[in-house]
Amino acid sequence: MEQQKKKNGFVGGIGFILAAAGSAVGLGNLWSFPYKTSQNGGAAFVFVYIFSVIVLGSIVMIAEIYLGKRAQANPVTAYKKANKNLGWLGLFSIIIPFLIICYYAVLGGYTVKFTMNSFSDNSQVLQTFSGNVGEVILYTAVFLILAVVVVTAGIQNGIEKASKTLMPILFLILVAIVVYCLCLGNGVKEGLDYYLNPDFKALGFKGVLAGMGQAFYSLSLGMGIMVSYGSYTGESVNVGKSAIWIAFFDTLVALLSGLAIFPAIYHYQAETGIALQNNGIVLMFSSLPVVFKTLGVAGNVVSFFFFGMVTIAALTSVISLLEVVTQFLIQKYSLNRKKAIAIIGVVTFLISVPIGISLGYALTGKSGMTIAGKNWLDFFDLVSNTVLMPVCAFGSCLALGWFAFKGKDKKETFSSNYLCDKLEAEGLKLGKAGKIFSFMVKYVTPILIAVIEVFGVIDIVFPADNGTRNFSAGGLTIVLTAYAVLIAAVIVYFIFLKNKETGFNEDELNGKCFSDEE
Ligand code: PHE
Repeated sequence: MEQQKKKNGFVGGIGFILAAAGSAVGLGNLWSFPYKTSQNGGAAFVFVYIFSVIVLGSIVMIAEIYLGKRAQANPVTAYKKANKNLGWLGLFSIIIPFLIICYYAVLGGYTVKFTMNSFSDNSQVLQTFSGNVGEVILYTAVFLILAVVVVTAGIQNGIEKASKTLMPILFLILVAIVVYCLCLGNGVKEGLDYYLNPDFKALGFKGVLAGMGQAFYSLSLGMGIMVSYGSYTGESVNVGKSAIWIAFFDTLVALLSGLAIFPAIYHYQAETGIALQNNGIVLMFSSLPVVFKTLGVAGNVVSFFFFGMVTIAALTSVISLLEVVTQFLIQKYSLNRKKAIAIIGVVTFLISVPIGISLGYALTGKSGMTIAGKNWLDFFDLVSNTVLMPVCAFGSCLALGWFAFKGKDKKETFSSNYLCDKLEAEGLKLGKAGKIFSFMVKYVTPILIAVIEVFGVIDIVFPADNGTRNFSAGGLTIVLTAYAVLIAAVIVYFIFLKNKETGFNEDELNGKCFSDEE
């Protein structure tokens, strides 16, 4: 008992895998994966997605978990340990989750509302609810409080326990819903054909980029999460195997979600008039409730479990985002966990209020409440995910691949075999895959990430509109804002953090941070 208490981290490998999978499995799997698949050539997109998970995602995942594990500390200290001049990446990877929490909490509030409202009619709720500012704020707060409670309880008693309970529940509900949808009869075959027949024309280059980006987002990479969770693992956790399990689980959930949604939408197409191309927020919060409604009472039950599942998925993701920021505040500023999480909870909540209002404006067709021509939620999403996240993932490859084990001469520096030997000697056991990993993390993966970044930015500044691309001043504002955040992180790091202590996991235990009973 005493010994367990001393350890600040996951009790076991499974707890870690489930927590990381809990972060990875989120709205991205259950909601954006299906609609992106439907927009980008069905199975062709699925193929690109799986390929990206293997070639890009798992590489960055291993790199990030390992950066955290070897440092046993928050991302700033972790990147700093790779190279002192790279610590800004850590700060950067704390700012990204902070931005994401602010809008993810709003969406989380929506999922709570839809769960609670399942036994009344959900099909018209999107309109009335989204425009009702008080209610949106209330549900956002409820959702955020749930996440805060878990993070306050710490790694073992909060995050690990919650993940071990919630993830199996999520999975069971999902499997049950898939079985149900596959047994609907009419339309199932068409739905599956649509989902599983590749249409490479509809995919195109844009679809390839979307698939690669989706893989990153879905695996929660490039935002400090895997570094932070990885830091709470000990000797007994095998990084390579864990990463494969996390990626596998995440991909499985995304694929299953498609298996449920496509047959269901096709089955009810005649009654609901919903076309698959209906995308974005509408698919989950408007199309599916209409489908549930046609099922009558059974639909209410399915709806309850479905939105309950989505709430769980969103909750475990926000928990991971909160932990990244919390961990840093605890370790750098010697705050206790409760204080740190209270500060973050309040600040993110305050920012989420205008985001919630703005989303309501967008969904109810009111004008106003936009930044750079977008509603606030889209603005935050584009800044954090499209522009900033690839930069951070690129940095993770650079940090481990080029800087953590810099060679004495050019030959060593450029050799991936040299990197492989160093990693192995230090304890990253990847067996035969070690050489491939080293080559990928040094050369291939960062190049592909750079491509994602460049085209992501182009797509914002010159958005495609019916085949033509025109300059968008709003788009440029978004990109410049994001890079300004990046530059600010670099400056703050070099002035305030580079030569200061930035803390370790053990600081939370040795009394430096905990002033109360722990
Ligand atoms: N990976 C999550 C998903 O698929 C999204 C997420 C993004 C989670 C950012 C945490 C942080 O939805």
